[in-house]
Amino acid sequence: MAASKAPTPRALGIDIGGTGIKGAVVDLDTGQLATERYRVPTPVPSTPQNVSKVIHEMVTRHGWSGPVGAAFPAVIRGGVARSAANVDPSWIGTDVDALFTEVTNCPVTVMNDADAAGVAEVRAGAAKDVPGVVLLLTLGTGIGSALFIDGHLVPNTELGHLELQGVDAETRAAASAREREGLSWKHWASRLQHYLKHLEHVLPPDLFVLGGGVSKTPDKWLPYLHVETPVVIASLRNNAGIVGAAMVAHDEAVAGNSAQTLRPVRNHPARAELD
Ligand code: BGC
Repeated sequence: MAASKAPTPRALGIDIGGTGIKGAVVDLDTGQLATERYRVPTPVPSTPQNVSKVIHEMVTRHGWSGPVGAAFPAVIRGGVARSAANVDPSWIGTDVDALFTEVTNCPVTVMNDADAAGVAEVRAGAAKDVPGVVLLLTLGTGIGSALFIDGHLVPNTELGHLELQGVDAETRAAASAREREGLSWKHWASRLQHYLKHLEHVLPPDLFVLGGGVSKTPDKWLPYLHVETPVVIASLRNNAGIVGAAMVAHDEAVAGNSAQTLRPVRNHPARAELD
């Protein structure tokens, strides 16, 4: 009798951004999406209650009951949000990991969104097998950063908040700044170049990986970028956050750490909304 093939490992990845929440089931053997990506606009205000409803909907819509990885746009330490630049400030101090675990009834692993995208690019994308210092930047509503040294992540680097010309760098060089200010691609690229040169000065990486929504149309702006460090576009494009979060959630499930993430949420108002 022929041995039956083990099922392909899968996890649901959800990427929570300042403007959209995207989710898909990820094939962990290939690092590709196994289902069509589902996108919902980020609710306004983006409070824990409102976002939790979308997370619940994502899981239900996919008929999912396994590990869930959530990429969240904040510093995440021990599952708890410690900042909130582009989401409602009430997230600060919220145990995001426990909240999403409770509302989905699945083992959820939460991490910073740029860190998640970086994990995907290092394991299965543009930075696969690249030694040395790799810096991935996500250019979207804000600027996220993920720093790797020989493939090892230094979490929560938040380099989008470096001060540049007296302001937070992401307010000038994120993709949202181009749209908000109606800048040409060339003008925006000159701002991005300024920011990358600053990074080269304070933290010279061996490789920049540029991701986020603008990674879908690099021909519009990449030709204007001139920096010393090699620059590549995130090969998983805007799906990197979904894929990386799913990869880490799967790792946790395999390592049996999910019991730790299944802590109950005590009296969180977002719970009551779902009952
Ligand atoms: C947040 C980061 C996040 C990035 C991209 C920044 O404003 O501080 O935590 O990774 O936006 O979403």
